[in-house]
Amino acid sequence: MEKRIREAEHPRELAVDVMVALQNHYGYLTDDALRDGAALMGMTPLELEELATFYDFTYREPVGKYVIHVCDGVVCWMNGHKSVVEHLCVRLGVGVGETTPDGLFTILPTACIGYCDLSPAMLIGRRAYGPLSPEKIDEVLKRLKEQAEQANAGQREMR
Ligand code: FES
Repeated sequence: MEKRIREAEHPRELAVDVMVALQNHYGYLTDDALRDGAALMGMTPLELEELATFYDFTYREPVGKYVIHVCDGVVCWMNGHKSVVEHLCVRLGVGVGETTPDGLFTILPTACIGYCDLSPAMLIGRRAYGPLSPEKIDEVLKRLKEQAEQANAGQREMR
């Protein structure tokens, strides 16, 4: 990343890539990561902070292993966004903007994710899910919990 920044005509054009790289390393954009990233690109921490808080996919606070971005675009609103959010909140026992105590899930709102034909929709990682129903949401959550358990079991075996 540092090489790319050195070679870039305008280093700040790599700001999103830098934030994502830092986030992947630290889990979220810590104050130190933001300061270091800004220094690398010749930006002020405030300039990078403004970008970080503009994008829905950069996090200034710790988030769960799976961040559930629930689309709150107008088409999803018309097709059941409210019931999707309510179901997720009840199933996970947290509100929008919160993370489950086990650190697995965070629910966040996001603008249209481009899957209006699958509305109401949500994005987890790079994968879109929809049209969502309570059953489909339960199925997705179950699958992700199983994935996390398998990953944890694999890590325990390697120790
Ligand atoms: S409005 Fe939700 S995917 Fe477009």
